[in-house]
Amino acid sequence: MSDQETLRQSILAQVAEFYRQNHAEKPFVPGETAVSYAGRVFDATEMQNMVSAVLDFWLTAGPYAQQFEEKLGRFLGVREVIPTNSGSSANLLAITTLRSMKLENRLLPGDEVIVPAASFPTTVNPIIQNQLTPVFVDSRLGDLNLDPGQLETAVSPRTRALIFAHTLGNPADMDAVMAFVRKHNLFLIEDTCDALGSRWDGQLVGTFGDMATLSFFPAHHITMGEGGAVYTNRPRLAKIARAVRDWGRDCWCGYEYPTNGKCGIRFEREIPGIPGYYDHRYYYSEIGYNLKITDPQAAMGLAQIDKLPGFIAARKRNFAYLYAGLKQYEEFLILPNWHAKADVSWFAFPMLVRDEAPFMRHDLTRFLEQHKVQTRLIFAGNILRQPAYQEITYRQVSDLAVADQIMRGAFFIGVYPGLDTPRLDYVLDTFARFFQQF
Ligand SMILES: Cc1ncc(COP(=O)(O)O)c(C=O)c1O
Repeated sequence: MSDQETLRQSILAQVAEFYRQNHAEKPFVPGETAVSYAGRVFDATEMQNMVSAVLDFWLTAGPYAQQFEEKLGRFLGVREVIPTNSGSSANLLAITTLRSMKLENRLLPGDEVIVPAASFPTTVNPIIQNQLTPVFVDSRLGDLNLDPGQLETAVSPRTRALIFAHTLGNPADMDAVMAFVRKHNLFLIEDTCDALGSRWDGQLVGTFGDMATLSFFPAHHITMGEGGAVYTNRPRLAKIARAVRDWGRDCWCGYEYPTNGKCGIRFEREIPGIPGYYDHRYYYSEIGYNLKITDPQAAMGLAQIDKLPGFIAARKRNFAYLYAGLKQYEEFLILPNWHAKADVSWFAFPMLVRDEAPFMRHDLTRFLEQHKVQTRLIFAGNILRQPAYQEITYRQVSDLAVADQIMRGAFFIGVYPGLDTPRLDYVLDTFARFFQQF
């Protein structure tokens, strides 16, 4: 072993010891330790990978990022994974890709994109940011996904695409969605930021549409701190997405930089009106951004992928445990349901306080929070009621009554792999203490 490698190994051994002393499992004290709605679950490997990446000091996306793309691509069974610095960036990238002049059937300003009104904001925002018009459909109580029954009503001559998230991991009705997008020849972007590992009829969600997106923020199925990805089986879209992610530059050398570029004519590109040639690395064929990740992020993500099957199993187990315990309160709560074809890799456990319940959602979530059980709302609720959206141009196809009900009554609690039986029992016990009052 070289001196350098010996030194690296000794540093990594110390990192493992640091992990053991500072980050390994702490005892759970009911009522004192917070039961989080989500959180990063890691061991010494993630820390060692990140430190190793820092020792390499590559910094920008490099060898770890390349491995991450390949490994996640294998897990998803897709040809292309394009890492980004967040799930929001991934959504922006996916929609912006559809505006590329390289696509003969590209989206044009004013074209319409169907999206549920009960969404995460950055599932909707890229529609607006790309001068497209969102057309809002309602959701269904129970699975909290877009209501397929409203899709036909949403169609106009300008309808070009559909984007939606599989809500908190629960797959939307993909039979209905795919029949609809095929009938109207629409682009489909699946936001699977909360649904990594969920399946519909045995097939991973995210592999049905043209492109799909992921988030690697710590609340999600795997994390790299901040991060995300676009994935697709369509190399043409992937190439455009990489260009948009990387400042809009046309060069597609990726992680390898042969002297004369992968194209072989890096220094012989021509730009009309400019005498001579222009370096392909400074040749811009898209209006782009910089949405790239760094190598230490990818190093962490790489270690997380190994844990993903275990994470998915734990999320399913925790969900089932909570469901069995909460079922008795259906008089007060609307619990989630899922389709017989859905195999759900739950992001969280959603529920709604019924309008007829003798308490408000706020009473229940405040009680839970006071007793250290973390809760979160289902994102924006009916996004049209949020202040930022008061001046947007849009269409809506119904009164969005369910989106309003989600905004009034829905919230979620955690199912993430960091929750063990004592914590789950404590959560159920806290619900029991709340419901004793009624
Ligand atoms: C459905 C959905 N889409 C997009 C995002 C955005 O991801 P990020 O926080 O990585 O930007 C989130 C974030 O939680 C999300 O839940």
